[in-house]
Amino acid sequence: MNFVGAHIVSIDQFQRVDVEEVFSVADRMLPYALRQRVTRVLEGAILGNMFFEASTRTRVSFGSAFNLMGGEVRETAGFDSSALIKGESLQDTARVLSGFSDVICMRHPVEGSVADFATASRVPVLSGGDGANEHPTQALLDLYTIRKEMAAKGRAIDGLKIAMIGDLRYGRTVHSLGKLLCLYSDIEVVLISPKELRFPAELVDSMRTSGIRITVSDHLIENITDVDIVYSTRIQEERFSSKQEADLYRGKFRLNHAIYTQFCQPNTVIMHPLPRDSRIDANELDADLDTHPNLAIFRQTDNGLLVRMALFAMVLNVVDQVDDYAFNVRWFNARQT
Ligand code: NCD
Repeated sequence: MNFVGAHIVSIDQFQRVDVEEVFSVADRMLPYALRQRVTRVLEGAILGNMFFEASTRTRVSFGSAFNLMGGEVRETAGFDSSALIKGESLQDTARVLSGFSDVICMRHPVEGSVADFATASRVPVLSGGDGANEHPTQALLDLYTIRKEMAAKGRAIDGLKIAMIGDLRYGRTVHSLGKLLCLYSDIEVVLISPKELRFPAELVDSMRTSGIRITVSDHLIENITDVDIVYSTRIQEERFSSKQEADLYRGKFRLNHAIYTQFCQPNTVIMHPLPRDSRIDANELDADLDTHPNLAIFRQTDNGLLVRMALFAMVLNVVDQVDDYAFNVRWFNARQT
């Protein structure tokens, strides 16, 4: 894949070699994410951060990654404050906004919308999620995290066994992660969800075709006893017709300290794309695991910065100049204490 000037809207675009390239550039971004060094390589560049659906970490992570490289961020958040509410087409919005930006990150509730937007954009578009379809940068940061967590145990991504838990029908992060795992060998995936919220059948088929061994179940306990990763997800309430319908599925698969210690392996890594639903009737990932060393959820969000910096550097073709425009930070750096 040629990253320079590319839109990134689906994991379908990636070969394994492309993923490894993103990861090796992400590794090089660590001093910047840790605020030991600052680079001005994107000084003068503008990111249009267009989020037409709720977001905290993805929006701020894209924006912070761009800022860490010296670029400026312009934002639109929500439909109500954009001209889409006046009936403007996504293509017109793309034609206009791409005149103001060097790169655009976009989230939108409709499946395929980010790809549609990209066709009319004059600058690269990176998806921050399109409805229940995909969330490619989240999957890249998730797999980057998995790679690091496994490496710490002397393991690779190949040979991994992962349980994906929760709303696998509407959860776009697991759709993209499932596609990404197809690029690796000897992978086993256990899909644990209520029957009504199962992983899309065509995705299961294509993962099986690529060699992944898949188990589908609506039982948690017996399926998490021998996995390397438990990847929990939130019931995607915003995709249901009513809160009452979402309530039917909330709180069905809870992971907490007692369940984890009784049923998982002592080194099983705990992941979640966040936000976790911490309301009492949901609580899919209990805060009593927060101090557990195997809880990787905040390492995931930290790694998101590295992966998104890498993607900006690659798409805007500055990978080899990042260090040339860098200096050591002058200010007190709490992260190093
Ligand atoms: C996820 C999303 O938006 O798909 N959040 C995120 O970007 N980390 C998961 C979710 O909202 O449940």
